[in-house]
Amino acid sequence: MLADRFATAARGLRGTLVAPPDKSISHRAALLAAMSEGEVRIENYLHAADTGATLKAMRALGCAVRREGEELVLRGVGLRGAGKPGAPIDVQNSGTLLRLLPGWLAGQERRRFTLDGDESIRRRPVDRIALPLRAMGAQIECTDQRLPPLTILGAALHGVEYVLPVASAQVKSAVLLAGLLAEGPTSVIEPAPSRDHTERMLLRAGVKVIRDGSQITVSPCSQIEFERVVVPGDPSSAAFWVAAALIVPGSQLTIENVGANWTRNGFVAIARRMGARIEGEIETANAPLSATDPITTLEVTSSELTGTVVASEEIALAIDELPLVALLGCFADGETVVSGAAELRVKETDRVATVVEGLSALGAQIEARPDGFVVSGSGGLRGGTLDSHGDHRLAMLGAIAGLASREGVGVVGMDAARVSYPAFVNDLERLVG
Ligand code: S3P
Repeated sequence: MLADRFATAARGLRGTLVAPPDKSISHRAALLAAMSEGEVRIENYLHAADTGATLKAMRALGCAVRREGEELVLRGVGLRGAGKPGAPIDVQNSGTLLRLLPGWLAGQERRRFTLDGDESIRRRPVDRIALPLRAMGAQIECTDQRLPPLTILGAALHGVEYVLPVASAQVKSAVLLAGLLAEGPTSVIEPAPSRDHTERMLLRAGVKVIRDGSQITVSPCSQIEFERVVVPGDPSSAAFWVAAALIVPGSQLTIENVGANWTRNGFVAIARRMGARIEGEIETANAPLSATDPITTLEVTSSELTGTVVASEEIALAIDELPLVALLGCFADGETVVSGAAELRVKETDRVATVVEGLSALGAQIEARPDGFVVSGSGGLRGGTLDSHGDHRLAMLGAIAGLASREGVGVVGMDAARVSYPAFVNDLERLVG
């Protein structure tokens, strides 16, 4: 295996970094802008492969998209006005586009849409959205009853009360978006809280959204309207630098403009419990539903860590950062246990398998479990080669592991970082100096 990026042991990360724009919020801003009627200006949109796929999809559905300086300006087609694309919509590698867009398309009466994507997307389950959207009245076909390509025949929808079998913001969002076009209210009941960007943005767009405990209800509407969205920095991208600063001795890093929404910051809470020195205010858990996403500045200092047990209610709040929890576990005293995270197996790769394989190759003592992993802290990592298997978060995990390793890490498939964080390697070079 030939590594295309080699990250060597660093002496300490110092300086200031602005977190790159949030991927989840960028997807939602573009989608909701396409669903609205007026012009929506989006500031700090993430220009990456996944969110580029969303812009292409919105264009294919009739939305006008242009760049004006640093801003992105979209003129939507209205809630019921999605045009018929000339070809299947290519979601590329984006699970969020794959799961959210059908929520809107399900209500486009008598129009048929097909969504397909890359090799990895064809392994990602879509029965989880097909089931509730069918219950609302849409016709959905998928391969082997559960995989893309996915065909949606839009219909007149009716509201439902849907109990989510897993805590998934993507499924929750698909149902809530369909609910805007349905007759009667639509409710989703979550087994545990998951990121709530859709709810916040719908509130901002004038939709009636109520959260009552674990139940979220939207009322149907004839149009949505908002003028401007400022996308905050992505806590999931920032988490790579938080982890790096914690485990590379002598680090002192400031990360600005990080989204401080509590439903995205499980990683900071877990790391703090492990002994991480992270300054910066995160919204309190269970803060009332608001129409904005707060931001914060994180100051991270390298720290002595101890192992922890990640509770099942924390999983959805840190889902994309669990590979980094495994990495911290390698540098912590004692055992770090993640369970109740079977969802990791259906991400861009089977992230239980790829994290265990990847970190083991670098000298970690880590064991896979059906729904997570157990790491025994072994005083750091030797180094070696890590294969990203085309998974952006694995590629970045490998590079960060390299900075803290004794011998450095070669990453095979570093290019996958373009999916969510195209400037990752540049930022790495700058911070390491
Ligand atoms: C996302 C939700 C999560 C996360 C994904 C982005 C979103 O997926 O893993 O990277 O933007 O809603 P699930 O909701 O399926 O867990």
